[in-house]
Amino acid sequence: MKNIVILGSTGSIGRQALDVVRAHPGRWRVAGLAAGRNAGLLAEQAREFRPAAVAMADGGAAAKLARELAPLGIEVLAGAEGLEMLAVLPEAHLVLSAMAGSAGLAPTYRAILAGKDVALANKETLVAGGPLVMEAVRRRGVRLLPVDSEHSGLFQCLQGQAPEGVRRLWLTASGGPFRGWRREDMAGVTVEAALRHPTWRMGARITIDSATLMNKGLEVIEAHWLFGIPYDRIEVLIHPESIVHALVETVDGSVLAQLSRPDMRLPIQYALSYPERWPGLPDPLDLARVGTLRFEPPDREAFPCLDLAYQAGRTGGTMPAVMNAAKEVAVDAFLAGEAGFLDIPRIIAGVMEQHSVKFRPGLEDVLEADAWARRRAKSEVGFNRVVAGGVMKRKGVTG
Ligand SMILES: NC(=O)c1ccc[n+]([C@@H]2O[C@H](COP(=O)([O-])OP(=O)(O)OC[C@H]3O[C@@H](n4cnc5c(N)ncnc54)[C@H](OP(=O)(O)O)[C@@H]3O)[C@@H](O)[C@H]2O)c1
Repeated sequence: MKNIVILGSTGSIGRQALDVVRAHPGRWRVAGLAAGRNAGLLAEQAREFRPAAVAMADGGAAAKLARELAPLGIEVLAGAEGLEMLAVLPEAHLVLSAMAGSAGLAPTYRAILAGKDVALANKETLVAGGPLVMEAVRRRGVRLLPVDSEHSGLFQCLQGQAPEGVRRLWLTASGGPFRGWRREDMAGVTVEAALRHPTWRMGARITIDSATLMNKGLEVIEAHWLFGIPYDRIEVLIHPESIVHALVETVDGSVLAQLSRPDMRLPIQYALSYPERWPGLPDPLDLARVGTLRFEPPDREAFPCLDLAYQAGRTGGTMPAVMNAAKEVAVDAFLAGEAGFLDIPRIIAGVMEQHSVKFRPGLEDVLEADAWARRRAKSEVGFNRVVAGGVMKRKGVTG
């Protein structure tokens, strides 16, 4: 039996990962669990799985949890430091990185440096820190196993393929709730409408990222680093049924695809069982019932976030970290009702335009760029509120 640490155990991925662990007794022992502030759920999980230690980003929540878990002898760590300590727990063989946002980068990077295999759901780790993370993976000789469904699909299709035999990687996207809409029609969309994803149930931020297609852009950058394929050979295809998750086109013209129901428990489990296959939790895929699989190109004019991500990825250095941080602020502002849906790409583009890129960044440079971008994006949100209040008018950066 091997030991797993789950960063982000109270989230959508974290909870489904615990479903997988629970369904396969004797495979994984939970050695550590970490979350942001949901002390109630983390306490419940700790009582069930009895890890050696847990961590909470929020100090107050950690103190509350410590009182609850003291009788069980479970150590409670607090703050960013506590999360990083949990990520390098000596008995851990695998760290599942499933925190939301760029806060996942530092603990995931520390886990890799400590020689842990990593199952990666937190796409921001490779978006913000791609070169330094991959360099650490090579140096430490650890496994970086994709959990994102599209990357798990690519990983599965690429098994046994020689790199020179691969022409292009294709990532599919459902298109989100606004597929087929014109850009101007999205100006007044509500948070509720944007959170209504047609096929996947996920955390709030990633659901909004799916509605803007930024999620696919982040995944393009993630695929670039995971599989070492240039951006010109990574394509995006809209596929509303979310049954085909990824395709690999080979140089002889063959196209290999990975299909399954849209259920994250499959890619999570594959990362936990690799290279084995275990009986799956989702119901089998019934293609006769699905009937039709549709594919169409993305509408890059209506969804400018996709090209912002390509642009950030191609620029490299600290630019992807800046794009991601600005995006997180813009999405949080939209969720809080402080920005409109179309302000999201406008804010991101505005912050990217102001950034002086640092190439070959270290972790500190990435974190600094992230913090700078957050400050810039927050002031854009503030500016936006003033504009919305009718005090002044300015043309949006992207249109
Ligand atoms: N959901 C999916 O289907 C899916 C698919 C592919 C990739 N991903 C990626 O997986 C990651 C997690 O997504 P999700 O949908 O599971 O998100 P989620 O439901 O919002 O859960 C996020 C988790 O991260 C924790 N967290 C948030 N901020 C934190 C911080 N500063 N420090 C420590 N923990 C923190 C949360 O703790 P609290 O609950 O205590 O706040 C929660 O456990 C994201 O990077 C996402 O892009 C998700």
